[in-house]
Amino acid sequence: MLPSAALSAVATSSTTGGSRSLLSVSSLAVQDVSAILRLATLLEGEEPVARALRLARRRVALLFYESSTRTRTSFELAAKGLGADTALISSQSSSIEKGESLKDTGITLRALGAECIILRHLSSGAPYLLARATGLPVLNAGDGMHEHPSQALLDLRTMLSALNRPEDTAGETLLAGITVCIVGDILHSRVARSNALLLPRLGARVVLSGPPALLPDLAQELGPGLTIERDFDRALKQSQIVMMLRIQKERLTGVHIDLDEYTARYQLHRERLRTSGPQAIVMHPGPMIRGLEITSDVADGPQSVIEQQVRNGVAIRMALIHRALEPAVQPGPGRKSAPVRGAKRSPAKKRGDV
Ligand code: CP
Repeated sequence: MLPSAALSAVATSSTTGGSRSLLSVSSLAVQDVSAILRLATLLEGEEPVARALRLARRRVALLFYESSTRTRTSFELAAKGLGADTALISSQSSSIEKGESLKDTGITLRALGAECIILRHLSSGAPYLLARATGLPVLNAGDGMHEHPSQALLDLRTMLSALNRPEDTAGETLLAGITVCIVGDILHSRVARSNALLLPRLGARVVLSGPPALLPDLAQELGPGLTIERDFDRALKQSQIVMMLRIQKERLTGVHIDLDEYTARYQLHRERLRTSGPQAIVMHPGPMIRGLEITSDVADGPQSVIEQQVRNGVAIRMALIHRALEPAVQPGPGRKSAPVRGAKRSPAKKRGDV
């Protein structure tokens, strides 16, 4: 786990796109989290033609230095759903292959009219560099072992829905009384880090479970509201939600894991779920390695909300892109609609606006 204080300190700086960027969950006040949840719900429920006027012809660049299925596709669908034009740049088929730096790539995209850049990068902190170099709002789509803030937000939306909890209660109590168990390769997981930083601020207890090689004792120091329980069954018995993580083989350099032993102790299988978490909600950010950290019957079973997590990615990412490009237009508490900038409104639409 890397120290995040230095990165967080610049997260809201005007040189990194200010509050329009999302580089870390630490830069979000709980009121911001609530506003994003409300905006996601508002945009998701909006009539698609009206929604596509919101960011019509605005330019969003998706800059991906690492593979992605869920994050890339949902950010792209989200931007298109709001009417924006998108450009996808991946490291394999661009001048990045020829050695162009992140800074120069960002400046080039800005010169081509990009107004917001969504970045996935293998290096922790890369989104901060890009935001500073371009002055554009940057949305962190996963940076190395650091953070994956939009994943934590879509996870939160999924949890609230699965728990049947309203999203419009005070942010600090959204998850009051709930214990979330995060299991597996915590050390390399930006998803674990973003969730561990966010969920306790919303009232949840977070229990981390895994072997020392993948979950150092130091992880508990990441923030308040975190405990380590190495016995997965004991952790699961305390939890309403269990979030399984993949072992990130691509980041395992120097770490040796006995997979048979790991599977015996940390796999979520039907018998373990029946015994230790018969009511637990099962989550996984993906990609899953079926048969390793989770069995297929559990992943596809009635307690799983893994597909809902993926679906919630589009709504949350619409809210984040909207916030990045139209920060002045945010729904207030209880607001049923937000005005569409520059759109010609029908009388009915006018009546709906507050
Ligand atoms: N959860 C997640 O980040 O998945 P992808 O790597 O497919 O985007």
